[in-house]
Amino acid sequence: MHMETPWWRDAVVYEIYVRSFADASGDGVGDLPGIRQRLPYLAELGVDAIWLTPFYRSPMADGGYDVADYRDVDPLFGTLADFDELVSEAHRLGLRVIVDIVPNHSSSAHEWFQAALRGEGRDRYVFRDGGDLPPNNWQSTFSGPAWSKAPDGQWYLHLFAPEQPDFNWRNLEVHSEFLDVLRFWLDRGVDGFRIDVAMGLYKAEGLPDTPPEDQAFKAESPIWGRPEVHEVYRDWRKVLDSYEGERMAIGEVWTDSAEDLALYVRPDELHQSFNFAWLEAPWSGPAFKKIIDDTLAAVTAPTWVLSNHDVVRHVTRYGNGLTNSTTGLSRARAALLAMLALPGSAYLYQGEELGLPEVKDLPPEARQDPIFARSKGELPGRDGCRVPIPWSGVAEPYGFSPDGTRPWLPQPVEWVVLSAERQSNDPGSTLSFYQEALRARRELRGTLPDEITWVDSSEDALIFSRGPLTCVINCGSESVRLPSHERVLIGSAPVDGHLLLPDTAAWLYTPDA
Ligand code: GLC
Repeated sequence: MHMETPWWRDAVVYEIYVRSFADASGDGVGDLPGIRQRLPYLAELGVDAIWLTPFYRSPMADGGYDVADYRDVDPLFGTLADFDELVSEAHRLGLRVIVDIVPNHSSSAHEWFQAALRGEGRDRYVFRDGGDLPPNNWQSTFSGPAWSKAPDGQWYLHLFAPEQPDFNWRNLEVHSEFLDVLRFWLDRGVDGFRIDVAMGLYKAEGLPDTPPEDQAFKAESPIWGRPEVHEVYRDWRKVLDSYEGERMAIGEVWTDSAEDLALYVRPDELHQSFNFAWLEAPWSGPAFKKIIDDTLAAVTAPTWVLSNHDVVRHVTRYGNGLTNSTTGLSRARAALLAMLALPGSAYLYQGEELGLPEVKDLPPEARQDPIFARSKGELPGRDGCRVPIPWSGVAEPYGFSPDGTRPWLPQPVEWVVLSAERQSNDPGSTLSFYQEALRARRELRGTLPDEITWVDSSEDALIFSRGPLTCVINCGSESVRLPSHERVLIGSAPVDGHLLLPDTAAWLYTPDA
């Protein structure tokens, strides 16, 4: 047993959406060597770990979440040797590496599915007879029916795009295959896994018709959150525990209830699950307070997350949908201080440290998310939070790719002022603020109790303490008085005297509290 806190419990993890982080090869798409070159930036930012979205062989029907070979790197992103170099360089810089694992479905280009189409090993996927109509009424998370026809007339299930056939987890071969894939990456030195669609995998026996309102991408229904899935994570936990070095796993579990979330992090299952409640909540003191209370009551290793590669960036969410909202940016900075003051670990999404907003005006022909095409343009899809990072310079590709290369999604001209280079020279920038906040968190590491205490908070001003640290976040429209303190450690905006402005937050320090 570890007497010390395992690294992941209070880690700040930085999500790298590989296609959009940094392009070294000059094809307009991010890659592993690009990430390696930018690792010093992440070390300087002050995060503890990186999570890489899928970089495996893939036809990219869903940006790599359609995996054709779980044990190889797609040439678009580099080679296995590039991966090994990335891991060793990250470790040299003190950064842990978490990789994505996609067990609910493979790519239709996967050799198993290709064999299934030829009639071999069909039981590894979910094939059914159906005649002219699909076998049931399930809809794909990406719009349209969750079934497509194989050339011989049988239907196969895909809860996402047709290029992402669902595995049949009632077939034990699927279990052993994934145990082997875990070992493959553990042997290469990864510190953990992010499990894609962790509440998927199993479907209810008989695949019953389900009312549309119960089909949402949320636990629990005949489609999601089946009890059998927990047995899978118990097996995975044993594998993780058999390796040295506190290897971990975090599940992508969408649910409205903290109790559901807690099921996935029972002591013999996953170490963490993403707590999406905050990411789904509006800017609201009472909503935030409830989420914090519910989370801390239900799980012992909480996580906090405000953005990821699937949702509208929180600067824009908090700015009433506007892409240039100063309110949105101010709130986003305040939310960071709240999240970093809480016990548990924080998951950041690339670009939030630059205050990047959602890009809402991407031309239709540039959009690549299958949600856009499958909904016939009705839903914008997720490309707007996946626009490549502006690193430097005054024009596209802003250092994302070598000069002269067009990035896979166009970058807005307004981003010229948001580049990492520009912000790193400005002490008042969002980047400098993130660096300062992460430094302050590191300095407090290990010194704060896990419990929080609410301090006479009003509806709109949340005030909680963890020992000597007090975090005040003002979600209201009037300034609030700060409680007594010895000094202000950091503010999301300058703190003047004893008042905290609306849409800002501050950390106060009082040694003997
Ligand atoms: C997860 C991923 C998302 C992907 C989906 C299907 O929700 O985060 O990007 O499209 O799974 O794999």
